[in-house]
Amino acid sequence: MIKLLGILGSPHPYGGSGSLLRCALYAAEELGCRVELVEVYRQRIEPCIGCVQDEEPTCRYPCIFEDYGREILEKLYQAEAYILATPVYWYGPSGPLKILIDRMTALENMVAFGEPSYVEGKVVGVITVGADAGATLTGAYLLTVLNAMGAMIPPWAHAYSHKGKEALFDDRAVMDAINVGRLTAGLALRVKGQEGPLTYMEDQELLVRIRERIFREKKAWEERHGAKEFESRP
Ligand SMILES: Cc1cc2nc3c(=O)[nH]c(=O)nc-3n(C[C@H](O)[C@H](O)[C@H](O)COP(=O)(O)O)c2cc1C
Repeated sequence: MIKLLGILGSPHPYGGSGSLLRCALYAAEELGCRVELVEVYRQRIEPCIGCVQDEEPTCRYPCIFEDYGREILEKLYQAEAYILATPVYWYGPSGPLKILIDRMTALENMVAFGEPSYVEGKVVGVITVGADAGATLTGAYLLTVLNAMGAMIPPWAHAYSHKGKEALFDDRAVMDAINVGRLTAGLALRVKGQEGPLTYMEDQELLVRIRERIFREKKAWEERHGAKEFESRP
């Protein structure tokens, strides 16, 4: 079974990027993938200290830091596919997501130890949500970086919205996010020699069903957390 990891770069689990990420994950789930969502704001992730530059490099998987960042790196190592979703913060990904990307050097730098990059051959899709400008730039940045680490990019691998926290009402973006999930899963299935979609699909029934599921979950989440969302963060 394909393991597909969703990485949320927003402090809001059900904000714009969180909602579109769920659209992608639920679409992948319908193709039989095992999906998991992790949030980079959930716990502190130490910033990379660049030990890849040491004379005797210590930069190797699973990284020198034993923190939440390492936990996510382990999940990345085990997954066949992943989808990164982020709010646009000044024409780029959020700070904690950028920190995680830097920490992924530990996966990529295995090439310095005679092994392939541990990102090589993984399949990636991306989702970016802004309120103004920079969503396409941020998506292009993420795809470029992940590909530079060895990841594969499926067709239609980027969904974006300019509707901010209302992105779940942006029909085009929701359909695109569903397709990011389907096609990221689809390419990962093909790599394993299994059947999987590689063509964009318009499916209004699926869109409505997934959106309603997210509305229900969001409502339940808000009832549990209310305005205390940020107080409960470490
Ligand atoms: C620090 C900061 C920087 C931002 N910079 C941009 C930006 O450059 N372009 C943009 O479109 N929106 C920008 N925004 C707006 C967010 O991208 C927008 O609120 C987004 O929907 C939040 O996503 P979320 O609901 O998933 O948390 C910025 C917001 C913050 C807090």
